[in-house]
Amino acid sequence: MNTPVAAVEHRRPEERALRHVAIIMDGNGRWARLRGLPRAAGHQAGAEAARRTLRACIEHRIEHLTLFAFSSENWRRPEEEIEDLMNLLRFYLKKEVSHLKERGVRLDFIGDRSGLAPDILDIMARAERETAEGEALKVHVALNYGGRDEIARAARALAKECVEGVLTPEAVDETMLAARLDTHGAPDPDLVIRTSGEQRLSNFLVWQAAYAELVFIPVLWPDFSRADLDAAIEAFHKRERRYGAVAAP
Ligand code: IPE
Ligand code: IPE
Ligand code: MG
Repeated sequence: MNTPVAAVEHRRPEERALRHVAIIMDGNGRWARLRGLPRAAGHQAGAEAARRTLRACIEHRIEHLTLFAFSSENWRRPEEEIEDLMNLLRFYLKKEVSHLKERGVRLDFIGDRSGLAPDILDIMARAERETAEGEALKVHVALNYGGRDEIARAARALAKECVEGVLTPEAVDETMLAARLDTHGAPDPDLVIRTSGEQRLSNFLVWQAAYAELVFIPVLWPDFSRADLDAAIEAFHKRERRYGAVAAP
């Protein structure tokens, strides 16, 4: 680690590139309430916004899009709302897979699968299998996902390998832990967008977003438009990512 500045200078042009956008799709409930509709109607409109955003990301030639669909904390919601969300997921995944395949989308799910219903696990596995050849955009859907839970599961995997003797504790470093996260193989998000005006991560990609640029948009997720995405991307390109180094002259 003797030439950190040179290394950072060398990396800079590429680091300005926007490869991975991650979105906390928030505000469905408020969108519905404003219209006197049930929360489920907000989630339905939110699913349409996700479809639109996916298309826009392909046009922007973004390589990875991560969508926060259901957090490990969202089980605290009323049973009926959870059921509505799971049914929406069943419906969209079944309906959309062939369209996604045509568009060159590759689907991947992150989060703790052990908490999900068996039929949803089947639908997820099929969606991943059927879109495995997609090269236009990789879409990571965060389902029963919590950043701390993900890190704890990765730590558990490392501990197990140490006990089994295939790894020594001294060998454990950031790269090794990152390789055991659900997101292994994907670059860290460059840009994290949260809609609805809330300004927090809510346990989303807490490890991976360490150096992400954060953009908070006061628009409720079902209203998120192409123009909102364009504006967030423009804001990203105006930022200077320093990674702890000094500002460019
Ligand atoms: C985001 O919208 C969708 C999920 C968390 C599943 P919300 O349902 O959180 O909407 P608000 O925040 O209550 O408006
Ligand atoms: C985060 O939104 C989770 C998703 C968007 C899926 P929440 O609405 O659950 O977050 P909090 O409760 O406002 O922090
Ligand atoms: Mg919310």
